[in-house]
Amino acid sequence: MIRRLSRTALNVTLLVSVMFSGQSLADTEIDLLQSADKAQFPAQYNSWAATEEQAEREDLLANYPANIILWAGSSFAKEYHSPRGHQFAVADVTHTLRTGVTPESGTKGLSASCWTCKTPDAPRLMNELGVQGFSGKNFTDLGHEIKSVVYCTDCHVKGSEELALPRPHAQDAMTKIHLPFDKQDTSMQGAQVCGQCHVSYYFQPESSNKVNIPWIFGNDADSIEKYYDTRRFYEWIHPISKTPILKARHPEFEHWSRSKHAKRGVTCITCHMPAATDKNGTEYTNHKVGSALAQFDKACSSCHGSQSKIEKVLDRDKKAIDKAARHVESLLVKAHYEAKAAWVAGASWPTMNDAIMAIRHAQWRWDFAMASHGLYAHNPQEGKVLLAKATEQATFSREKLKEILRVLKVKDVYYPDISTKEKAHQAIGISVEALTKEKQAFLKEEVEKNWSPITQRGYQYP
Ligand code: HEC
Ligand code: HEC
Ligand code: HEC
Ligand code: HEC
Repeated sequence: MIRRLSRTALNVTLLVSVMFSGQSLADTEIDLLQSADKAQFPAQYNSWAATEEQAEREDLLANYPANIILWAGSSFAKEYHSPRGHQFAVADVTHTLRTGVTPESGTKGLSASCWTCKTPDAPRLMNELGVQGFSGKNFTDLGHEIKSVVYCTDCHVKGSEELALPRPHAQDAMTKIHLPFDKQDTSMQGAQVCGQCHVSYYFQPESSNKVNIPWIFGNDADSIEKYYDTRRFYEWIHPISKTPILKARHPEFEHWSRSKHAKRGVTCITCHMPAATDKNGTEYTNHKVGSALAQFDKACSSCHGSQSKIEKVLDRDKKAIDKAARHVESLLVKAHYEAKAAWVAGASWPTMNDAIMAIRHAQWRWDFAMASHGLYAHNPQEGKVLLAKATEQATFSREKLKEILRVLKVKDVYYPDISTKEKAHQAIGISVEALTKEKQAFLKEEVEKNWSPITQRGYQYP
């Protein structure tokens, strides 16, 4: 009660001071909320804000140009970076070439669903517009509404430390796997709040592109594939091989949930948000969500004695997974071009079906492994199995294609040079220069003028 009273008093003072500062009411409300949270929970607030220090990221298309070929025909081929601190979530989704520019008036652009896992404004807007009212909007229609990055209210009841799951798709998903949020202990609830966003999803076309988590049969690669296959769902038709492609998206929750750690009750929170002590010696949960290994003493040492030993194990598993992934990529690139050669030579759908389906299923397993950031740490065993199966399926596809090409008397298959990002982009006809120019104009005319400064965080404006 005392907490609540002091909070109201604080709100009034702040409201008076911002009323004369010329900010819009919506901005004022955000400032009030943030100031109140900061005053009430300084240690959590300050550590939350400190994820702004985690600004580094990698250009994964430059690291692995083969991915450009595998994702040809989709926006993933345009730009793809590794994740960084939560404070950049809104700016990065605004800037990536994947989200493009304002569509021509009257045409349908990318869905506003892309905001779902970046900001508490997404669940707020879902409440205001309805879930499908929200997802039916274009991504760019709602840019000016986005005022906060991954915030307290994404994981907590407003103004309280009680955990919450504000996204309807996440509530549904946890119920599908028989772990309804309300019935879980704090430990599982902690993992589930991360699992709202660190999870694989798709936009459901028959429901105005609302976010859906495909877990009706379960949340492993086979069960999700069965779900998609039964519905004859695909994200896009691959322009080279004509494969109906499935796309995985960061299934960190799924992989963790079957790990040795999960079985022992070690969750995302144990490793990525360990306890810390403030200047008065009081313990709190460190909200600077970032590298787990960097916090070995706080996060791991209660169970693992030697950091160097654990680092060796992680390094070994990372290398094994990376090597298997590169091998699958090289097989899949070849398969896509061999399928193309077969189509060009006049192959028919009935003869191609098995080969194409094997490409679909192999690429799905490869993606379900590689889109999962930190797989080597979260569940190396499952990662290795996925990639072994993908190798088998891609190899099977290529054997089928070899036979088809033999019958069609095709001697040579053209495989382009994809040794760099630039060459791979050239091979599939993407001009990053043209896309960047268009994006820059949109950033200048729309984002800089009408959107919140958080959409520009970390980017330089000349
Ligand atoms: C990404 C999810 C997430 C975000 C964002 C988040 N929290 Fe938390 N918070 C947690 C989790 C998980 C716990 C630990 C719950 C447990 O294990 O008891 C926690 C614990 C807390 C606690 C309990 C005391 C403690 O330190 O353990 C407070 C208070 C709190 N958070 C305040 C905040 C405030 C204020 C913000 C915004 C500035 C915030 N949280 C943002 C997930 C989050
Ligand atoms: C509202 C959605 C959302 C929630 C909830 C969320 N995350 Fe994230 N997380 C993101 C996004 C988006 C990024 C990537 C941001 C970027 O690259 O701009 C990210 C990035 C990360 C990173 C990479 C940080 C770095 O510095 O490389 C880690 C680790 C992470 N999240 C862990 C967690 C954990 C653990 C939880 C639960 C306590 C959690 N996240 C909750 C959306 C979320
Ligand atoms: C046993 C500890 C542990 C658990 C449990 C765990 N992680 Fe991790 N996670 C790691 C380690 C170790 C890495 C490798 C990089 C690092 O953080 O040092 C990592 C990496 C990540 C990354 C990639 C970071 C980047 O910048 O590439 C994300 C995102 C992430 N974890 C999210 C989660 C989420 C969400 C959960 C729960 C569903 C989870 N982790 C559970 C230890 C853990
Ligand atoms: C509460 C205890 C506990 C904590 C905390 C914990 N672990 Fe573990 N860890 C385990 C157990 C139990 C195993 C499984 C041992 C086995 O069965 O082989 C394990 C296994 C591992 C393995 C072997 C990988 C595998 O799946 O075979 C790695 C690597 C690892 N932990 C890293 C970490 C890191 C990094 C952290 C901190 C960020 C951490 N662990 C925190 C209990 C813990």
